[in-house]
Amino acid sequence: MQQPTKVLFVCLGNICRSPIAEEVFRQKVAQKALDTFIQCDSAGTAGYHIGNLPDARMRQLAQQKGFTLTHRARQFSADDFHRFDYIMAMDEHNYQDIIQLGKEHGLQALAEKVFLYRPFDPAHDESKVVPDPYYEKGMDAFEDVYQIVDRAADQFLQFLEERHSYKS
Ligand code: 4NP
Repeated sequence: MQQPTKVLFVCLGNICRSPIAEEVFRQKVAQKALDTFIQCDSAGTAGYHIGNLPDARMRQLAQQKGFTLTHRARQFSADDFHRFDYIMAMDEHNYQDIIQLGKEHGLQALAEKVFLYRPFDPAHDESKVVPDPYYEKGMDAFEDVYQIVDRAADQFLQFLEERHSYKS
């Protein structure tokens, strides 16, 4: 039996981008019946919202799309480097904070495990970030995040399937 591939989605607060990225990805994994092969979670580089449900606007958007977000925010920690195979950062600040923490813990080959998520979106053009919607007014920025993580999830899942050749 293959060890499951473990994926962690990371943003700043773990209440907007990474919880929706996690849930959208989990649904696509389940649709392909790959749940026993791929597991996922999310975390934030900051600790401001530890224990909280996702932002009410992101939960509202999820309801509109037909699902519920129940994740409770937690802070990214050095243990996560050992617990996860892929650490997917939503923007460059998250990416640099993750790499910095890894270096502080003397970890090597971080670039083999830590990735920016946005480049998996085929419509990413020059932007390599999933934009932070937290300070935006209205729901458009939240809808944009959803569209980005929905497209990125398809490509990222395809990337994992090609790399790991999951077989029942
Ligand atoms: P997230 O959004 O990183 O996508 O969860 C944010 C949530 C909270 C804050 C910033 C961004 N904040 O400053 O509290």
